[in-house]
Amino acid sequence: WGKTGHRVTGHIAENHLTGKAKRALKDLLDGHSLAFVSTFADEIKADRKYSKFSAWHYVNYPLDMRYEDAPKSKYGDLITAIEECTQIVKDKDRSREDRVFYLKMLIHLIGDLHQPMHASRAEDKGGNDIQLQWFGEGTNLHRVWDKNLILSYGMTYTELANELDQVSRKERKKIQEGTIYNWVDESHKLCGKIYESAEVGEKLGYQYSYKYNDILFQQLQKGGLRLAKVLNDLFD
Ligand code: ADE
Ligand code: ZN
Ligand code: ZN
Repeated sequence: WGKTGHRVTGHIAENHLTGKAKRALKDLLDGHSLAFVSTFADEIKADRKYSKFSAWHYVNYPLDMRYEDAPKSKYGDLITAIEECTQIVKDKDRSREDRVFYLKMLIHLIGDLHQPMHASRAEDKGGNDIQLQWFGEGTNLHRVWDKNLILSYGMTYTELANELDQVSRKERKKIQEGTIYNWVDESHKLCGKIYESAEVGEKLGYQYSYKYNDILFQQLQKGGLRLAKVLNDLFD
């Protein structure tokens, strides 16, 4: 996601943390909110020193496959990255600096896991090679899902998060079930439909936004609730 998607994810998660997780996060993040630190992994991208992390934001595999059956990238991917972050944050023998770095990375990556185009296919780099128009402006399918769709609501991240956080305890528990392997395959499955409904050069606008409103909102909501689950488990 772009900035707004990540902040929505962080803001929703903040409302579903256990006391223990809240205290651990407050300490490691120096009192900053999850929404605030959620964009850190994108902010370091410009620095060459961090180039090895660029492959951590996404995973590509054939559309008819499950993650666990697919060939793995030697550069690592979103899933191996989440596993590495989790291990490091848990490890009390690591420096505080490392634990903080990988915690901020983890908070970002659980968001990206729910952007369908970040669990996509290699041929078009998760939609980056599919050029389109969005309300008359040039963009691509990846960018439509990172930010164009979200920004079209003209809402702040707090407004969006509050809108999406209306969920019963039962629904929340259901959404928080499963593992990152289930979650990545769920995002990945959405790509089939998304690829079918956008031709290269197509002019997208209100109709597209309306068609995908529910999927977009669901993915943002799931990302937030599952981020809380991952952090609660981590600091339990
Ligand atoms: N580069 C290659 N595949 C990508 C993807 N799915 N998302 C973002 N960048 C990519
Ligand atoms: Zn992206
Ligand atoms: Zn990212």
